[in-house]
Amino acid sequence: MDRISKAIELAGEKRKANKVGKRRNINDGYAFSKTKRHGIELDYSVVRRNRIISGFLDNPLADPYRLLRTRVLRIMGQNKWRTLGITSPHPCAGKTLTAINLSIAIAIESNHSALLVDADLRSPNIHEKLGFKPVSGLEHYLQSDAEELDSLFVLPGVDRLAILTSRKVEKCSSELLTGKKMTNLVKKMKESDPSSIAIFDLSPILLGDDAVAFSSCLDAVLMIVEDGKTRSDELRRSFELLDGVNTLGTVLNKAKEPQANFPGYY
Ligand SMILES: Nc1ncnc2c1ncn2[C@@H]1O[C@H](COP(=O)(O)OP(=O)(O)O)[C@@H](O)[C@H]1O
Ligand SMILES: [Mg+2]
Repeated sequence: MDRISKAIELAGEKRKANKVGKRRNINDGYAFSKTKRHGIELDYSVVRRNRIISGFLDNPLADPYRLLRTRVLRIMGQNKWRTLGITSPHPCAGKTLTAINLSIAIAIESNHSALLVDADLRSPNIHEKLGFKPVSGLEHYLQSDAEELDSLFVLPGVDRLAILTSRKVEKCSSELLTGKKMTNLVKKMKESDPSSIAIFDLSPILLGDDAVAFSSCLDAVLMIVEDGKTRSDELRRSFELLDGVNTLGTVLNKAKEPQANFPGYY
């Protein structure tokens, strides 16, 4: 087995091990492991402050992420899709937050494992939101002759979740994302354990051509729209640029009015 396949299988192995082995203690109130054995130990107060809430099982505010997870998994399953990009027309709409919360929600669902990839090479910040220092990751793999990928995955102590972080790339990020190495990596992800879903945090559609160029390598994209900020012409232009790419749906983020089916329930 080559190194890429080995790395991709990491999260899958965690899924299998967890299924037959220990069960998470729901009463702990969160889905994060307390041990360091998966690589890094998250600081829960930082994670919570940064709105990474989908791992906290007792938090009703995480329900929309669970609903999003269920709908995403259903549509991806029906279409046999395995790779999903998260994008938005402009910065700060909530792409990274959605990508992280969705990945955790998928991983704790226990029938799936999740690979979260920071493919926003212009402004990678998954590590910041999770509160750890950037480690050499995807950008190093793509810019070097390195074939070794498994050591670049971070295991944040959430069962069945592996993260491929990135550090900022100053130029040619679009070429890196559409180059042979990245294409090969995505292909391997599509061919890996069918229960594993790869989530790619992308750059904004209307900022450079990274997201538009790379999206065509993915099975589908999810569009994040910021309530009261994203203009309809920006959204229309974004979908025009994504012509030919499967769109899984649109998430209305930072909604000013509750969107739940049962307003006022919580
Ligand atoms: N649903 C939300 N509710 C409140 N704040 C949010 C929400 N989604 C994102 N944010 C905040 O908006 C800011 C930008 O989010 P981020 O995920 O970094 O956006 P992007 O990746 O699209 O640039 C962050 O401070 C984040 O905490
Ligand atoms: Mg971001």
